[in-house]
Amino acid sequence: MGNIVVRNTKASDFDGITRLSRTVYPDSAPWTAPYLASHLERFPRGQFVAVDSDTGAVVGMAASLILSWEDYGHIESYGDFTDGGLFTNHDPAGRTLYGAEVMVDPGQRRRGIGSKIYAARRTLVRDLGLLRIRAGARIPDYHRCERTMTAEEYVIKVIHGELSDPTLTFQLRQGFDVLDVVSDYFSNDARSRDYAAFIEWINSDVAAPADYAGRNPIFRRDRAGV
Ligand SMILES: CC(C)(COP(=O)(O)OP(=O)(O)OC[C@H]1O[C@@H](n2cnc3c(N)ncnc32)[C@H](O)[C@@H]1OP(=O)(O)O)[C@@H](O)C(=O)NCCC(=O)NCCS
Repeated sequence: MGNIVVRNTKASDFDGITRLSRTVYPDSAPWTAPYLASHLERFPRGQFVAVDSDTGAVVGMAASLILSWEDYGHIESYGDFTDGGLFTNHDPAGRTLYGAEVMVDPGQRRRGIGSKIYAARRTLVRDLGLLRIRAGARIPDYHRCERTMTAEEYVIKVIHGELSDPTLTFQLRQGFDVLDVVSDYFSNDARSRDYAAFIEWINSDVAAPADYAGRNPIFRRDRAGV
């Protein structure tokens, strides 16, 4: 593996992103050019790829949009927050970066690429003076435990480091806190049983104490655990 460069996505990356999404999610429709072009048209600074500088291969990507949170009900579904994946609801006047996708090639994981992509996302949020990042984290190992615990109990165990989840543990390591556990958030994530851990990272440069006020104490993190 050469150096990994994280930069904004270009149209010439679309084929590589489609290939990557087929590898990461073989049972789901991949991100294809019409969707990726819509993201780029709405919010070019919110779209990232991680590229291997030796081979030019796209080994990771992230897609984001900005939302005015007040326009949404409590916690809606992935489809609502992304307007069916097209990001036509992107609102530059909003204060919340919504993380719609982040993925890394399965053969290149645990090498810090996801963390590098997230560092770029946090830099973007600080540069734009946004308040926070919110996203629905998959909980892909929940299906292994569903007979013995609820999704909420599973998430609490992951927060406390009693269980490890391939996606949620990664997100917690990125500094996210869990706000809620939401059913029917996804429509095609069998391993997560369509649940999501709804997560938030606050930009402390601009946040006021009230911006942390709505957090549910049951998801408070034992920092020694994760
Ligand atoms: C989640 C994902 C993007 C992480 O990418 P990555 O490049 O492997 O992440 P990093 O190497 O930066 O990992 C950083 C830390 O996160 C944690 N982590 C990452 N993958 C993990 C796993 N499978 N299990 C437990 N912890 C994990 C570890 O603490 C890791 O640090 P370490 O390797 O030093 O222990 C990648 O696994 C992926 O593409 N998953 C499928 C798509 C997905 O679920 N995306 C999220 C949608 S909500």
